[in-house]
Amino acid sequence: MLQDAIQKLAKDTVSKFVKPNQVVGLGSGSTAAYIVREMASLKAKDTLLCIPTSLQIKVEAEKSGLRFADESRIPDIDVVFDGADQIDGRFNMIKGGGGALLREKILISSAKTVVIVADEAKFVKSFSRSVPIEVHPMARTSVAKRLEKIGAKPAMRTLDKGYPFITENGNIILDTVFPSISDPERAELELKGIPGVMEVGMFTRKTNVYYYRAKSDGTFELVNS
Ligand code: A5P
Repeated sequence: MLQDAIQKLAKDTVSKFVKPNQVVGLGSGSTAAYIVREMASLKAKDTLLCIPTSLQIKVEAEKSGLRFADESRIPDIDVVFDGADQIDGRFNMIKGGGGALLREKILISSAKTVVIVADEAKFVKSFSRSVPIEVHPMARTSVAKRLEKIGAKPAMRTLDKGYPFITENGNIILDTVFPSISDPERAELELKGIPGVMEVGMFTRKTNVYYYRAKSDGTFELVNS
C-alpha cells in the first residue's frame, strides 16, 4: 500500500510541478527513482533538461529517456524532486542516506521550488537518527575528534566487507549520532565550519519546499499547506 501511495504521489507531483521547457533537478534514492520513472511518460519530456545528483538517478533518468543539462544551468533550476531520510516537526530534514547529500544540497539550495516525497515513517517530532557528514578523507580523524569533543559519535560508513564508502566526490561519510539537536540551523552552520567537512546532511527548513507524505493506507497528503 505504501508503494501505491508513493507511486500515486510521483504521478501527482510530476503532473503538478513539471512544465514544458523547465530545468529539473533530480534527487537520489528509491523515492526519487519513482518520480523519474513517472517523468518518462510526460508529453513535454523532450523539452526538459535534467540535472542528476548521483549516478544512481542518472541511470534511472537515462532509462526514462530524459535529457541532461550542463551543470552551469544549476542557477536556473525550476524544480527539484527528492526524498528524505527524516523530516522533523519543523520541516528540517536529514538526508544523505545514499551518500548524495552534497549534490542534493547544491541543487536544493538553488531551486525555485523543491518537492520532497517521503513515507510517513520518516516524519518525526524530532530527529532520531544519525546525520551523514561528508568529509574529505584527509580530515577523517581530525573531524571525528572535533565531533567527539562536542559529545557526538561519528562512525565511518563502510560497505559490506569493511571497505570505506566513497562518495561520488571522492569523500567519506561519517554517520554521526548527536545527543540531541535542539537548533538544527545552528548545528548545520557549526558543523560546516569544521575544516574538512564538505557537507552536512542536515537540510534546514526553506519556504519554497513542498513536503508530501505517503501513507500506509495507500493515500498521500501535502503536509505543509
Ligand atoms: C540520498 O543521499 C538521500 O538523501 C535520499 O534522498 C534519502 O536517503 C532518501 O532515500 P529513499 O527515497 O531511498 O528512502
